[in-house]
Amino acid sequence: MRRYAISLTAMGLAAFGWAAMAEAATPVTKATVDTTQPGAEISRQIFGQFAEHLGTGIYGGIWVGKDSAIPNTRGIRNDVVAALKAIKVPNVRWPGGCFADEYHWEKGIGTGKRPVTLNSNWGGVIEPNTFGTDEYMDFLSQIGADSYVSANVGSSTPRETAEWLEYMTSEKETSLAVARRENGHPAPYAVHFLGIGNESWGCGGNMTPEHYADEYRQFATYAKNYNSAVPMKKIASGANVDDYNWTETVMKDTQGQGMDGLSLHFYSGFENWPPYQPATGFDETEYAKVIKTALRMDELVTKHSAIMDKYDPQKKVALVVDEWGAWLKNEPGTNPGFLYQQNSQRDAVLAAVTINIFTRHADRVRMANIAQMINVLQAMILTDGDKMVLTPTYHVFKMYVPWQDATFLPVSYDAGTYTHGTVTLPRADIAAAKAKDGKVYVSITNIDPTQPLEVDLSALGLKAKSASGQTLTAPKLDSINTFDKPNTVVPKAISATAKNGSLVLKLAPESVTVVSLD
Ligand code: AHR
Repeated sequence: MRRYAISLTAMGLAAFGWAAMAEAATPVTKATVDTTQPGAEISRQIFGQFAEHLGTGIYGGIWVGKDSAIPNTRGIRNDVVAALKAIKVPNVRWPGGCFADEYHWEKGIGTGKRPVTLNSNWGGVIEPNTFGTDEYMDFLSQIGADSYVSANVGSSTPRETAEWLEYMTSEKETSLAVARRENGHPAPYAVHFLGIGNESWGCGGNMTPEHYADEYRQFATYAKNYNSAVPMKKIASGANVDDYNWTETVMKDTQGQGMDGLSLHFYSGFENWPPYQPATGFDETEYAKVIKTALRMDELVTKHSAIMDKYDPQKKVALVVDEWGAWLKNEPGTNPGFLYQQNSQRDAVLAAVTINIFTRHADRVRMANIAQMINVLQAMILTDGDKMVLTPTYHVFKMYVPWQDATFLPVSYDAGTYTHGTVTLPRADIAAAKAKDGKVYVSITNIDPTQPLEVDLSALGLKAKSASGQTLTAPKLDSINTFDKPNTVVPKAISATAKNGSLVLKLAPESVTVVSLD
């Protein structure tokens, strides 16, 4: 039903100039939000973050140490905390990733000198263990996020996980709880989520799904939470991309074993090691290719969910997409093992369409973690010494804050198409939600980087007189924010004009817009 905005006025003016012609050619889509058919709750946990001991994600990005000249609170940098508080990070997955399956928590506690180990996965660098469990929990309390701890299954034992949980959560005066008190934290910590292994099909032990399911059952048996005030959810290590056999086998073999979530990992733009898609300086072909891979998330979530439905029709087990985002070529001159990449307006589009996919599957996808929070892969924040810059992806997460724990609302619209070379994508990607503040929010991504888009919005069950919010646009296909120019891609105010009973929004090419209907 794609139509073009050729109004009588525009047709009349067309004879007199290109400007009017250009306006006449702007694609238009009509979108209707149905507020009378609310869907599932969009869990705030889908806006989760991932922080691994990798490159400068932790050291430099979060932890600078108490004696640093960079302003910090107990060693954790204040600028980063303030920025993360503003996007209301719901949870942070830590300490990995592949790092988690080589991590031994006892080396990361204590007030004295801690053992120095190697980070064999990521650059083979020294791991000083100065950021450990107590520092992680302090960081979470500073930003107001829940904990998501990844337990070592690949190179450890159920006993090590059980003792880590006792250290973190015991209310009773066991020796480990006393050690926690001596390390400065008498009250038990809350472990909201426990990941049992990471990528157990790969860096987490190269297991078969049958073997992993056995390991899961054994680890889960002893993974006890002693903090009676806060329940702990257990998340099993899930499939890589389209490994549906993994999901099938783990769901079948772990039924009734107290599994609250099963994970899924999928990176856009990544095919084989080493990653080759440039993060900046790319052309339209590379733009279209990466966005196309991102849209594959819908197919993956749909198919994994269908398998989960067979074993869990009541959807008690969440599909937890605890690693997603763009995995691109590392920034020239950086250590390839540090996975440091720039973040462009393309990443903003990628983030928005992925979040929209999660909202459409909100009944099953109840948690997700973008990889990774700071200085690694598709980051929210980049730092360099005392400098910090917010990425386009950060701004998308900020624009979506009202969507946390909102209710999904269906939207009917004709997406249209955008074609470049052999790649055809939907032109528009639209989602809606009713937020806790009572307002209806609509998110519209104009995927087409070559043409503006007019959206004529209306709502069933709501008399909306205006729509206003923010739009994220960029001067170039691959615009980025840098330490020197941090405001190239920042949200700007946008509002709709009323026309023939619709609210009309004019959106820039390659843009992300979130408005509320009032
Ligand atoms: O996010 C980087 C790595 O990607 C993680 O450590 C691992 O789980 C995945 O392969």
